[in-house]
Amino acid sequence: MVPLPPLSPLAVTTLGVRWLHVLAATVAVGGSVLTWVRLRLESTGGNVPIDESALVLARGYEWLFWAAVGALVMTGVGNLGAFAPTLPGGRWRTTLDVKLGLLTLVLVGSAVRTRLLARVAGSSAEVPTGLLRRAYGATALGLVALLTLAVVLAHG
Ligand code: HEM
Repeated sequence: MVPLPPLSPLAVTTLGVRWLHVLAATVAVGGSVLTWVRLRLESTGGNVPIDESALVLARGYEWLFWAAVGALVMTGVGNLGAFAPTLPGGRWRTTLDVKLGLLTLVLVGSAVRTRLLARVAGSSAEVPTGLLRRAYGATALGLVALLTLAVVLAHG
């Protein structure tokens, strides 16, 4: 068997940054699907109060989501740094641009979703469960699309 050459410190750092990037993506995607599935178990009828456990899960996910986004942006820039001094062009560049455009849409939508949850959690008024469910469903859909683009970006 041919022995593998030792990894340089730079290669270890690059691998660590990429690992963190994938871990943060997993948390963001997995959490959104879980929250959406939990909200699907709630009734969408008129004045039915939403179960507190569903709200606790959604609130917990909001913290995780924004922390994961922070980690994704930082490690994403780190991933770009691995291509220094110049980024590849062509299809790779187009895929990256689409990925960043979709990320912007997901972030704008998520700001709206977080505000909606804050309003729902802080009021005793009728809870728009259907709207909340759709917001988490849209987040999950956007993040899965991002994940798909990311895999195409990294592996062609
Ligand atoms: C500012 C935001 C982001 C930037 C600048 C960024 C940048 C990058 C870059 C440059 C790569 C490596 C591509 C290659 O090796 O050809 C990558 C890989 C990846 N990204 Fe992102 N990304 C960002 C956000 C996200 C988000 C939001 C997700 C998922 C929800 C994500 C998921 C992934 C995954 C799964 C990989 C593949 C890693 C691998 O297979 O090694 N990224 N990203």
